[in-house]
Amino acid sequence: MALQELEKPYSDADLDQRAIAILRENEWGDYTLPTRGLYPYQWNWDSMFVALGFSEFDLNRAWTEVETLFEGQWNNGMAAHIVFRKDDPNYFPGPMVWGSGQNPPTSGCSQPPVAATVVRDLYEKDPENGRDRLKALFPKLMAWHRWFHTKRVISGGAAIAVTHPWESGRDNSPDWDAALENVDPSGVTPYTRRDTGHVDASMRPTNEEYDRYLKLVEYGRDTGWDHAQITREGPFAVADPGVTFILMRADRDLKALAKAIGAEDSAHEIDTWLYHAEESADFLWSEALGAYAARDLRTGAHAVGVSSVAFLSYYAGIAVPRRDAKLQATLRRILDSSTYSIPSFDPEHPRFDSKRYWRGPVWAIINYIVARGLAEYGFEREATRIRMDTRSVIRESGFYEYFDPIVGTGAGGNQFAWTAAIWLAWASPMTD
Ligand code: DGY
Repeated sequence: MALQELEKPYSDADLDQRAIAILRENEWGDYTLPTRGLYPYQWNWDSMFVALGFSEFDLNRAWTEVETLFEGQWNNGMAAHIVFRKDDPNYFPGPMVWGSGQNPPTSGCSQPPVAATVVRDLYEKDPENGRDRLKALFPKLMAWHRWFHTKRVISGGAAIAVTHPWESGRDNSPDWDAALENVDPSGVTPYTRRDTGHVDASMRPTNEEYDRYLKLVEYGRDTGWDHAQITREGPFAVADPGVTFILMRADRDLKALAKAIGAEDSAHEIDTWLYHAEESADFLWSEALGAYAARDLRTGAHAVGVSSVAFLSYYAGIAVPRRDAKLQATLRRILDSSTYSIPSFDPEHPRFDSKRYWRGPVWAIINYIVARGLAEYGFEREATRIRMDTRSVIRESGFYEYFDPIVGTGAGGNQFAWTAAIWLAWASPMTD
């Protein structure tokens, strides 16, 4: 029975069952769609969280999800943010617009690299049976991380740049506003959006943002997807605490995997990446905000407000005592400013919008990784609060793509795979 037909709040047993059904219904052979209609292809970080969800009831299928993502890996190491495989007129921009020249066709940028962390989780569930699959995936993960550390840093810098808001996974976050304003949208090839045919326009990026998103795609395509040039000279390059901290965590997990399979040389190479970890955290720290914040690499300016990814420093393994009291105070203020944590952008800031995608709504995946880091550093109270809020909002509204942090209503796509996956892996009482 569809969740909508049941009485609210939904029971945990119904949610457990429905979450498994959503993963199965969104399967498209060996990979999984985030949701039907709105996102009809394989998305990078969606797929990895989905693998974590599958690992709760079908570990073999979880490994397959990771393996199919890497079918879209480029020779230069990049694991693309979308693997298209076919053209679906219900999504824009499709493979022709990206013009990646890859087979299978892909987009031309990447997405937050959660894969190595997920692979470590899968491997540790059953090391004996996972060993061969890990060995096959390991060089691919190394190549992807190496791509970030060489193609997405600007000489000497250690924080990781995103060169398109889509690469951050947080498309319309206020973190990109200032840098996007400097992208000239004139002359963009005329196009028709498809996303607003699936979801209310008030929950999606604006047309002005889309013009610039498309302009950035056209710029990248015109360079022949020269990723170093795009980072160095392109119209948009912003150091992102989200990707930087997620990669830092993934580097540590990849090092543990290197040791597990005796890949000592790789472990040493990863050490050279991690050597810059504190320096990149320093670069992102904003004393004025009392938080880590995105930084425009063309102007040096910090973002104007606090995003939920600011609190991923613990997940990344970064603790700086002289800063953490301030970061914790900021976290408490943000948690107290909404009914359901964690709002993706500060509710007390004028740019907050409770329904518009990454400008305010709660995302279960971000809650999971932030809380995981907090728990690892002993901030149990905050971690539990975030987990319980995630549980409550899903009980109230079901498996939406994101949720209004003030009233808890679901927004964006429904029957959403990564929300179902996070329920199964972390938020459901079944995981207590
Ligand atoms: C979209 O199409 O909205 C996606 O977020 C791009 O990755």
